[in-house]
Amino acid sequence: MTIFKNRFKLSLLAAGLLAPMMASAQEAGGMDSSTLLLTVIVIVFIVSLLVLAVAGYTLQILKVFVRRAEEKKAAEKGIEYVPEPSAWSKLMAGLTDSVPVEKEEEVLLDHDYDGIHELDNHLPPWWKYLFYFTIAWGVVYFVAYHIFDAFPLSEEEYKQEIAAAEAIKAANLASLDLPEIDESSVTATTDAAELLDGEKIYQMQCAACHKQDGGGSIGPNLTDKYWLHGGSMVDVFKTIKVGVPEKGMIAWEAVLNPVQMRNVASYVLTLQGTNPPNAKAAQGDLFEEVQEPEAPAEESTDEGEESEAEEVTEVTEVSAD
Ligand code: HEC
Repeated sequence: MTIFKNRFKLSLLAAGLLAPMMASAQEAGGMDSSTLLLTVIVIVFIVSLLVLAVAGYTLQILKVFVRRAEEKKAAEKGIEYVPEPSAWSKLMAGLTDSVPVEKEEEVLLDHDYDGIHELDNHLPPWWKYLFYFTIAWGVVYFVAYHIFDAFPLSEEEYKQEIAAAEAIKAANLASLDLPEIDESSVTATTDAAELLDGEKIYQMQCAACHKQDGGGSIGPNLTDKYWLHGGSMVDVFKTIKVGVPEKGMIAWEAVLNPVQMRNVASYVLTLQGTNPPNAKAAQGDLFEEVQEPEAPAEESTDEGEESEAEEVTEVTEVSAD
C-alpha cells in the first residue's frame, strides 16, 4: 500500500512541475526550440526518477522475499540465520579498515596516559588512496606542464586572459566611436546634458570621498580655489585620469571612458566657489585662471606679438601657506 501511496505522491509532484511549464509555454504562444528541448529534458529527467523509484521499491520487495526464504531454510536446518552484510557496509568496512568495538582489545597499545589508552589503528584506506592519487597526479602534472609544456601555466593563462580582455575592451571602445579626448586637448564642456552626466558620475563614484556637495571628507575640498594637483581643466582631468593611488584616489581611466572623465571634471569645476557648509579646510596651492578679454581683431594686427601674448591664458599660482 505504501508503495502505491508514494508513487501517487511522486506523480503528483511531476504533474506539479510540468503544469506551470506547459502553461508558460502556451502563454508565449508556442515554444521555441530551446524551451522545447528544456521541456523534453525535464520530462525525461522526471520519468527516469520515477523509473528509478519504482525499480528501488521492487528491489526492496525482492529482498524481503529472499530474506524470508533464507530464514525459512535456516530454520529447517536448525541454524541461526545471519543476514549477509549489505553492500554499503562492506564498502564502508573496506574504505575505513576500522576495527569493530568488540575487537578493540587486539589493537590496544600498552600506553596508559592517566587512563587514556591508545589504539593502533591503520590509516583509513580511503585516505591512503587519496594520497597515492595525489602523488600520481603530481607526476602527471609535472610531466604534462613542465616537461612537455602541453598546457599553459597559470601565469601564461593569466596573460592570455588579460590579452583577450584587452581585445574585447579595444573592440568595445572602437564600437563606441568616442572622440579622442586626453589631457593634451581636453576642454571643459558647458553642455547641460554632459554636465548632468558628469554630476551623476560624481554622485555615484566620487561623493563618497569628496562629499555630495564637493566640500571634501576623505578627499580634498573641490569647491575652493586651492588645489593639490592644479585647478585648470587639464589638471583636474589628469588628476581624475591617473589618480593619486598612494593617497587613495584611484586612476579613474580604468573605470570611466574619456568622455565621462571630461564630463565629471567639467562638473567638478562648476562646484568652484559654491561654499558648501562644513567644507574641508583648503589644501594645496591657490590657483587662479585669469582669462584676459580678447582684444579687437583690428588692433591685434597692428600690435603683433604683444597682443598675442595677452590672449594666452594667464595662470597664477600662489602658495597657500
Ligand atoms: C576613495 C576615495 C576617493 C574617491 C572615490 C575619489 N577621490 Fe578624488 N581624491 C581622493 C583623495 C584622497 C585625494 C587627494 C590626493 C592627494 O592627497 O594628493 C583626491 C584628489 C582629487 C582631486 C584633486 C584635488 C586637488 O586638490 O588637486 C580631484 C580633482 C578629485 N580627487 C576628483 C575626483 C573625482 C572626479 C572622483 C570620482 C570620479 C574622485 N575624485 C573620487 C579620494 C577619492
